[in-house]
Amino acid sequence: NFIPKIQAQAVCCSHGNVQQQWTRGKRTVAVLGAAGGIGQPLGLLMKLNPLVSDLRLFDIAGTPGVACDISHVNTQAMVAGYAGDAELEKALKGCHLVIIPAGVPRKPGMTRDDLFNINAGIVKSLCLGIAKHCPKALVNIISNPVNSTVPIAAEVFKKAGTYDPKRLFGVTTLDVVRARTFYAVRMKVPVKEVDLPVVGGHAGITILPVFSQVKPKKQMSAADIDALTKRTQDGGTEVVQAKAGKGSATLSMAYAGALFAEACLKGLEGAKGVVECAYVESKVVPGISFFSSKVRLGPNGAEEIMGLGDLSDYEKKALEAMKKELIGSIKKGVDFAKS
Ligand code: NAI
Repeated sequence: NFIPKIQAQAVCCSHGNVQQQWTRGKRTVAVLGAAGGIGQPLGLLMKLNPLVSDLRLFDIAGTPGVACDISHVNTQAMVAGYAGDAELEKALKGCHLVIIPAGVPRKPGMTRDDLFNINAGIVKSLCLGIAKHCPKALVNIISNPVNSTVPIAAEVFKKAGTYDPKRLFGVTTLDVVRARTFYAVRMKVPVKEVDLPVVGGHAGITILPVFSQVKPKKQMSAADIDALTKRTQDGGTEVVQAKAGKGSATLSMAYAGALFAEACLKGLEGAKGVVECAYVESKVVPGISFFSSKVRLGPNGAEEIMGLGDLSDYEKKALEAMKKELIGSIKKGVDFAKS
């Protein structure tokens, strides 16, 4: 039986290497939900990342095949696949970073909130595993609704006594990636040069691209700002509709997830000036306990949560408008985790 042999070999080799790799500043990363639409390309992108020495691909099924496939790519990371609850411990032990794209995606007509009942339970159970097997790992949550799944994770970790707000992140990088792309195309600037924060949360009106702080700065009309803000907020729906019932953003999300994961890994390695937007426990906006804004990443995770800076009147209004929804989504997550 070929596949189990590959697994056993990979597991054995990777475990043997962890200490040695660690001292060389190489990292052990797990992707939970690794056989899915996001998980597969994300696994591939993490296999290409030179900071990763040991890549663990976990799902309820299908991961031996995905891991075998990705393991043939000639980059240095060792790859191992793990399937089912019984293998979660092996997948998580010794991890520095755990990325969670596990859960169901949206279908046309569904909001991210409609996913709550299924994905909330999945995130809760995976976080229980993290609390037990790798409590010091940084955790990147991709599973929607991020506005609620991150507070769920926080509650699970609090209950387990392992919570460190610096180590828990909701991944909102896709909103940043989209806003930068849409701005570059509309304003005819090279996309590589675009720097643009996106703050708030990760659903509809809670997503706020801060065009008043964009670089390079081009004169934008009020109509442009409104159109690009709405397109960024509806970017997920645009993909859901284009895929006509066959899922939501997977490839662009895998790219965004890999980008954020790399920023976390660089931070762990002690690189200076690593700043990305992420949805974290925050005091930036009074009364909203989780919020996405620029975060400086370092050896302990979120070393500094940056303020919002000056906002335009349009952005101030949008910030006010999102508050109720964001507070409601956070409460929904906290209530679920406590129930
Ligand atoms: P998918 O259905 O293709 O893959 C999800 C995978 O999770 C499946 O392979 C499934 O077997 C696995 N899974 C389910 N329960 C699990 C468990 N208990 N443990 C481990 N794995 C489990 O879905 P897709 O398209 O990959 O989306 C995944 C999630 O990411 C969805 O919640 C989606 O809404 C979210 N998403 C988040 C975005 C963001 O910007 N944060 C953007 C796009 C999607």
